[in-house]
Amino acid sequence: MNYFIHTYGCQMNIHDSEKIAGILEKLGYTVCDSVNDADIIVFNTCCIRETAEQKIYGHIGAVKKLKRKNPRLISVVCGCMSQQDGVAQHIRESYPYIDIVLGTSDLNLLESAIVAAKNKKKFVNVEFNTYREEDFDVSRTSYPNAWVNINYGCNNFCTYCIVPYVRGRERSRPIDDIMAEVRQLLADGYKEITLLGQNVNSYGHDLPNGENFAQLLNLIGELPGKFRLRFMTSHPKDLSQEVIDAIAAHRNICDNIHLPVQSGSNAILRRMNRRYTRENYFDLVDKIRQKLPEVGITTDIMVGFPGETEQDFCDTLDLVKRVRFSSAFCFVYSRRKGTPAYSMPDQIPYSVKKERITRLLACQNDVTKSISAQMVGSTYEILVEGANFKYDNVMCGRTESGRLVNFKCDDGFIGKFVSVRIDRASSATLWGTIVEEL
Ligand code: SAH
Ligand code: SF4
Ligand code: F3S
Repeated sequence: MNYFIHTYGCQMNIHDSEKIAGILEKLGYTVCDSVNDADIIVFNTCCIRETAEQKIYGHIGAVKKLKRKNPRLISVVCGCMSQQDGVAQHIRESYPYIDIVLGTSDLNLLESAIVAAKNKKKFVNVEFNTYREEDFDVSRTSYPNAWVNINYGCNNFCTYCIVPYVRGRERSRPIDDIMAEVRQLLADGYKEITLLGQNVNSYGHDLPNGENFAQLLNLIGELPGKFRLRFMTSHPKDLSQEVIDAIAAHRNICDNIHLPVQSGSNAILRRMNRRYTRENYFDLVDKIRQKLPEVGITTDIMVGFPGETEQDFCDTLDLVKRVRFSSAFCFVYSRRKGTPAYSMPDQIPYSVKKERITRLLACQNDVTKSISAQMVGSTYEILVEGANFKYDNVMCGRTESGRLVNFKCDDGFIGKFVSVRIDRASSATLWGTIVEEL
């Protein structure tokens, strides 16, 4: 019996798919490389932008044909898209060959859903049951990195964003459970731990003993052995001085902060309900760089939010040039039903959005290029993460600040720390040579 999981969206979903894989393996399924060989196929979905959704519906449609070939095939749709209002019903009506629909907090029901499907019964549950991490035997796929959830959901309600509706209110995981998982992962040989939350900085606000994110960082940072600690995502309004100090105080905590700014215009930030100004953002970046001079700051930026004027957009370009992000994920605003921005006036035409994203990408590319050029000739510590599949015997790994570097070596180095000298840079891509194994 074989399984195949299609994973869309962010790191949360990548990690949820590792939980799904764990459940399926416990039931005797083995992972396979092609949907044609699968006895169960899972779509772990994302609905952050319309483009993501359209792609997924296209892929789900292909199940009809696969089922004709293999009538015993079980099909599952789970993740953020299935949690949206009315979607479970829509799938039931329009995609009758889908057997199971599960919401974002209902993965623990997968086993009983499969039993029902084997008895030719549809199983739909998007009720937000919530589960404990400890209920799963996670089947990890990202060695030497291991993902660890610290909080779920989001309370921020940025006006463009669907996440609070599909992932629910923010819930923090007990600190002792997180520490037990991290200790076990390090004992198992993982070299990098990445803490996951929509807003890691508000970790603990709902816990009884005043736990907070800085405290969690300090506890993990003090664990013995050589490993790297990363975390995402940081909301600029909640990143405290204590967190910056914790990063500075521990060698194991990477000087790398993903700090989505979304826009450089105060008017747009206000309408997005981000609750900071561009001035607050500049101050925060200064505070971070004062303590962490080598830090890599990355970001998410959106163009074409309702009402965005040419001047608003130019404010974003100006912010990008001033902050000098080491990289930026740039998105075109996508209207999400059920969010406040959906019904805001002055939606921006696609042609304008497209022109702005092209200019934004070119602007960030110039910044990345100049940072890359400055890195040539210097030596950085790299954790070897895996093969660069475009070339033979080329591996890649990241600097502490988060920049991806390619270098020649064999896959026996995966999971090792090496020292790499940067030889050349072509904008985003860095090439180097190993000078020492650490
Ligand atoms: N919790 C994280 C981000 C989650 S979504 C945070 O607060 O930063 C990842 C990114 O997708 C966001 O940072 C945003 O830039 C983008 N995004 C969210 N909703 C979007 C929408 N409706 N259209 C386009 N991009 C969106
Ligand atoms: Fe969405 Fe804002 Fe929450 Fe991030 S902080 S998940 S952008 S609502
Ligand atoms: Fe992530 Fe997409 Fe859900 S970005 S939280 S998988 S909507």
